[in-house]
Amino acid sequence: MSERAILKIGDREIELSIVEGVEGDRAIDISKLRDLAGVIAYDPSLGNTAITKSAITFVDGENGILRYRGIPIEQFVEKPNFVEVAWLLIFGRLPTRQELARFSEKLTENELLHEGLRHQFQHIPVDAPPMAILSAMMNNLACFHQQLLSVEDVESLEAAAARLISKVRTIAAFSYRRSQGLPFIYPDPHLRYCANFLHMMFSLPYKQYIVTPEIEDALNLVFILHADHEQNCSTATVRTVGSARANLFASCAAGVCALWGPLHGGANVEVMNMLEAIHTGGMTAEECIRLAKDKSHPFRLYGFGHRIYKNYDPRAKMLREACERVFAKLQHQDPLLDIARKLEELALSDPYFIERKLYPNVDFYSGILLRAMGIPTNMFTVCFAIGRLPGWIAHWREQHEDPNSRIVRPRQVYVGPPKTDYVPLNERK
Ligand code: SDX
Repeated sequence: MSERAILKIGDREIELSIVEGVEGDRAIDISKLRDLAGVIAYDPSLGNTAITKSAITFVDGENGILRYRGIPIEQFVEKPNFVEVAWLLIFGRLPTRQELARFSEKLTENELLHEGLRHQFQHIPVDAPPMAILSAMMNNLACFHQQLLSVEDVESLEAAAARLISKVRTIAAFSYRRSQGLPFIYPDPHLRYCANFLHMMFSLPYKQYIVTPEIEDALNLVFILHADHEQNCSTATVRTVGSARANLFASCAAGVCALWGPLHGGANVEVMNMLEAIHTGGMTAEECIRLAKDKSHPFRLYGFGHRIYKNYDPRAKMLREACERVFAKLQHQDPLLDIARKLEELALSDPYFIERKLYPNVDFYSGILLRAMGIPTNMFTVCFAIGRLPGWIAHWREQHEDPNSRIVRPRQVYVGPPKTDYVPLNERK
């Protein structure tokens, strides 16, 4: 008989089954708790609660392990191909050569924006936050591609995924060009995914941007390392919105909004602000550490700490190594990398961080690599979103196809006023 959990409440004993994951993770099934025991569980940030079973990504926070559909992320470093990993996450296996070619072709077919959508950029303030533009334009895609509002088979899912993954890159590049007062550069169908993004970001009408292999590989790796991370805040948001049977565009636009937060994807911008402040003398690394430990101050050591990783985030390690590799190859230098290394060294030798198991996370080094590509700080979280989109789509699909999926509707413990009567306006003090 499989293991059970016994919950004693008063003089009653309630037996609860245990749900087992394939890597030894176990969960007490409380899905019938209220019916069985007349009580509900209380777990405000869901840090102790599985909201689903999932076969997409495995994270072992204690040992710093991250696998996409079982494949350790370290195995993508050799020849990083973001489009291939996007397929892996969404369709559950590595694509055949034909499938990869077909999907790449679909990305090429979908790289243009509808001219009606493109014209809308003209009315956006040049200093608009890029994440606001991205979430708005992603939702806006639903207006121009209404045929993909309902995705009921694999073919239409692949079409919607290709459309979103391709157009998110064009939207991001156009928002950057708008902010710089530069003419939009249309996608080049002869370029691969990442090279095309950098072309749309940095080419000029009279001078094509030519990406080096090192930079193209580095951007593929950045997008791959951001592609999925199980039930993180933005992915859980996509699943919550999708659980209401909201369409893929709306669900992913909601994910963009959650990712924008400085505690989540927005941290990569805060890391750069922190490193810049140290570089320009606004504060020393030691002051930064001291401030991060000061509970009376809202400042945190951005790029450090993680709900799941109580060890070094494997992505941070790979991004730091990628910085060192690319910088050496391009004979590029950036004082912010040295500052980041010094901050890491100070924090990892400080009892405050050691006791709390706070290590560098994916955001600590990612910005330094993006900066080396010429991508401005305010576009870092947009790049995170481009990378994370396949993960959001994969989770939306997994939930959409789950026959047991129900609308997400948490309960609460009410702590408001007891029953109170209405007081007419003329009787109020
Ligand atoms: C991402 O979930 C995911 O997988 C996310 C992500 C993904 O791929 O989707 O990995 C991407 O969002 C990475 C995280 C990016 N955010 C930051 O770098 C912001 C700085 N980090 C923290 O705000 C914090 O570590 C979080 C938000 C990442 C995690 O928050 P938790 O799990 O709620 O941890 P907590 O706030 O309860 O912290 C526990 C203790 C507290 O101190 P005590 O109350 O025990 O005294 O650690 C302290 C915190 O004050 N702490 C920090 C800190 N992170 C935690 N103190 C200073 N600096 C920090 N960075």
